[in-house]
Amino acid sequence: MDQLLNRSIKLNQTSPEILRAQIRASFHQTADLYESLFENLVSDEAYFVKPISLRHPLIFYFGHTNTFFINKLILSGLISKRVNAKFESMFAVGVDEMGWDDVNDQNYDWPKVHEVKVYRARVRQVVDALISELPLNLPIDWESPWWIILMGIEHERIHLETSSVLIRQHALKYVKPSADWSICPEQHAPAPINSLVNINARDVEIGKRDASYGWDNEYGVFEKHCSAFQAAMYLTSNAEFLGFVEAGGYTNDDYWAEEGLSWKKYANANHPTFWTGQASQWKLRVMAEEIAMPWSWPAEVNYHEAKAFCHWKTEQLGATVRMPTEAEWYSLYEEAGLSDEGVSNSEEANLYLDHFASSCPVNKFAHGELFDVVGNVWQWTETPIFPFDGFKVHPIYDDFTTPTFDGRHNLIKGGSWIGTGNEALKSARYAFRRHFFQHAGFRYIVTDTPIEDHSSHYEDDKQLSEYAEFHYGDTYYGVPNFPKALSELAINVMQGQPMRTALDLGCATGRATFELAKHFDHVTGIDFSARFIGLALKLAQQGVLRYTMATEGDLVSYQERSLADLGLEDVVKKVDFWQGDACNLKPSFTGYDLILAANLIDRLYSPRHFLNAIHNRLNIGGILMITSPYTWLEEHTPREEWIGGFKRDGENVTTLDGLKELLGQHFELVNQPLKVPFVIRETQHKFQHTLSEVTFWKRIL
Ligand SMILES: [Fe+2]
Repeated sequence: MDQLLNRSIKLNQTSPEILRAQIRASFHQTADLYESLFENLVSDEAYFVKPISLRHPLIFYFGHTNTFFINKLILSGLISKRVNAKFESMFAVGVDEMGWDDVNDQNYDWPKVHEVKVYRARVRQVVDALISELPLNLPIDWESPWWIILMGIEHERIHLETSSVLIRQHALKYVKPSADWSICPEQHAPAPINSLVNINARDVEIGKRDASYGWDNEYGVFEKHCSAFQAAMYLTSNAEFLGFVEAGGYTNDDYWAEEGLSWKKYANANHPTFWTGQASQWKLRVMAEEIAMPWSWPAEVNYHEAKAFCHWKTEQLGATVRMPTEAEWYSLYEEAGLSDEGVSNSEEANLYLDHFASSCPVNKFAHGELFDVVGNVWQWTETPIFPFDGFKVHPIYDDFTTPTFDGRHNLIKGGSWIGTGNEALKSARYAFRRHFFQHAGFRYIVTDTPIEDHSSHYEDDKQLSEYAEFHYGDTYYGVPNFPKALSELAINVMQGQPMRTALDLGCATGRATFELAKHFDHVTGIDFSARFIGLALKLAQQGVLRYTMATEGDLVSYQERSLADLGLEDVVKKVDFWQGDACNLKPSFTGYDLILAANLIDRLYSPRHFLNAIHNRLNIGGILMITSPYTWLEEHTPREEWIGGFKRDGENVTTLDGLKELLGQHFELVNQPLKVPFVIRETQHKFQHTLSEVTFWKRIL
């Protein structure tokens, strides 16, 4: 195998034909490598028995990477004919490979191994022909058809690694060591004693800049100041982890956080998963054999085990021990002086399959004062994956990342001995459930800096998403943004009057609150729904809102809106949001120059009570702005509480009549009522178009 081909291809080249040749070579080399990995299986039977219950048998993964090519090429219109429709349905999606869901236990009628080999060969011909014939225009970027070919190659490289983990989890009788996949011979040296290295404070800026293929989650910008901290010189070795095991680490529940504890009980775990044998004579399961425990190799554990170790170590050291965050891992990387493009010299790290088909001693590859900042095994971080500012979903693989933005998938960094292509880059961001096993271990750090919460999953509640789009999204049918239009009307009416504080009552997701704050000293948004307020608060705190939008049926698109894009980032300090009941407001909400009650009165349980008391909240001369489509519904307002929309003594009573009646004592109507339209998008094919009547009332008494 050509080791250099395991590097990511640089796409900023000047010769299209050299690039084309490199992509073809990388495509075939990745496929060769992938097929060679399966030579570690002893028999056809080994393809059909599941290594672990949560995953498909390996026959699925053998076919899956080629089916992925065909499905993505068809989706992007680069080819039109399937190679094998039956296989391409069976091998398409089995398990959320980034997730952890149970495999549906239906009986799959898997094809024979030799049939899949024939299929793989045919797909190779199709992709090879495409690589030969497709016009290549530089640069190759995210929109280029070549991006899809690179996506297929990099996807296979991910499965090269995850399939190697499955082979490692397979029963020993199904695997055999092979010459192409030889393990590190340095197995008997004692482990080095770990020590702490000072890491300087620095600002880190994250976000892919290098000129190679990247997954959607790597793009965008994230900036963070990292305080100084101390980091373990070495990854935690098997010997160091033994200290935790022998101290009763797996039996003392106090070391385990809640989620880790339930995993430990569920899995009945009492030692790292790849440790086998007895406590008196531990062995290590590597990919295709068991060996006497190499104490100097890194301990491979899931996040929960690493975290429990850190709690134990905190007790030992009398200082807070944890894993680095994503940003702190970048700080380690920069402290080590590694290049932005990743390791290019094959002597530098146990990465890219340059050296072994296994881990190696934790003191073999130095990076500055530290060892194994990249390579050997992946390193767990404390950071659940989150989208950087400017994140966009790649339309051809729209479920690669977004399902992992749930706060339950932690990032792993650094790559392992089998990390090739994109996986080995500084900018790579792979995230797995915290109880997941990879060729992954950890480096501990000592710091008092708390872990920052970036949780920002996509809001997928239908009503919240509709409102998020209504307030912050696109306009439809030429109808201007409603909350913004209301704010502009209010400001017009307020000309010449003091604009100190305003109250946006029934603010929903808060757009008018932000808009009014462009003119007022301070604006408070209040809504009855804690969910709406939660969304408005999140936007105020994070500056960005992400939500899914129904297109049709179960299909959704992903949206990101930021205050900066809407020109509202400077007003954040002038707004606050509270959950509250408009019919029963806290006494402190008073003294306003403007109260906006947008689409509120026909949603109150007692609009009469609200209208009778609202003057108390407004300064004399202040303006009450009421907008409503007067959609009276008994589910919100008992019929006897309606203030209009019914007959009294045989005569029609409109809501405007009711408003005049109830507000007349303290207010005078300013201007004629206006009808202001708004559109709420339900799906890409269904929209609600409504007229809201706007009235302004000046407090005179
Ligand atoms: Fe996949």
